Amino acid sequence: MELVILKDSEQVAAAGAEHLQDLLLNKPNAVLGLATGRTPKSMYRQLANLCKESSLSFRDVTTFNLDEYLGVQPNDAQSYRSTMRRELFDDIDIDPANTYLPECAADQNPLDVGPDYEAAILEKGGIDCQVLGIGQNGHIGFNEPSSSLNSRTRIKTLTRETIENNRQYFEDAESQPQLAITMGIATIMDARQILLLATGAAKAEAVRQSIEGAVSASCPASILQMHERVVVLLDEPAASKLARLDYYLWVQNQKRRLLAKIASD
Ligand code: F6R
Repeated sequence: MELVILKDSEQVAAAGAEHLQDLLLNKPNAVLGLATGRTPKSMYRQLANLCKESSLSFRDVTTFNLDEYLGVQPNDAQSYRSTMRRELFDDIDIDPANTYLPECAADQNPLDVGPDYEAAILEKGGIDCQVLGIGQNGHIGFNEPSSSLNSRTRIKTLTRETIENNRQYFEDAESQPQLAITMGIATIMDARQILLLATGAAKAEAVRQSIEGAVSASCPASILQMHERVVVLLDEPAASKLARLDYYLWVQNQKRRLLAKIASD
């Protein structure tokens, strides 16, 4: 796990955008796993700007989002499809046909969505880089605490805490969905690399448990300790509870020095 600790959320967004830009320059037809939520918003803005300046193209990129609410239709303003359109897809040159979310059409059996989504990911060759945020309870995607560490894309019931955290996006409590379809933890772990972003002090405890705690279904993000290519971008408040913070900063400096030396040789 590579930890990168940065001053603030804007630096996290810039580092995330740079990471994805490097990936797409090396593999223009990459398959990206994407997240919604507050955390990646600014990174998406920066990617859209790079695309506008023609420094980056999504023409051949395919995306798979982590999750979608069940019972919300793609055109509803609160759907994650609409969110992704507002925050990224409408401002980049991606082919909308290559943007996937685990959506359930009104006439579709919700139980079919998960297996179909898994098959679609496999058909596209698997996810090259999965972008993740983290819930205050340690969830990734909508894999709430106690989710099987071996889970696949399926329907999940959201915790009261997650419903409360996302309350602001809905006009009233009645219209807020309590079910979602989410990639499973094993689906996420299949990605060839993972880019986790966490910002703000409210995430500090979940970050500490994920990175320094025991691997446990009680903190789904802790499974990332078992993945061989994870980059974690944290701002200082999100990193503030890490017991070995000094060591991580030291490692980060050593890496920076080594890269500078290689560049100057
Ligand atoms: C979003 C998702 C969630 C969020 C997490 C953090 O697609 O799957 O796991 O990444 O809830 O949300 P924010 O970024 O709003 O704090």
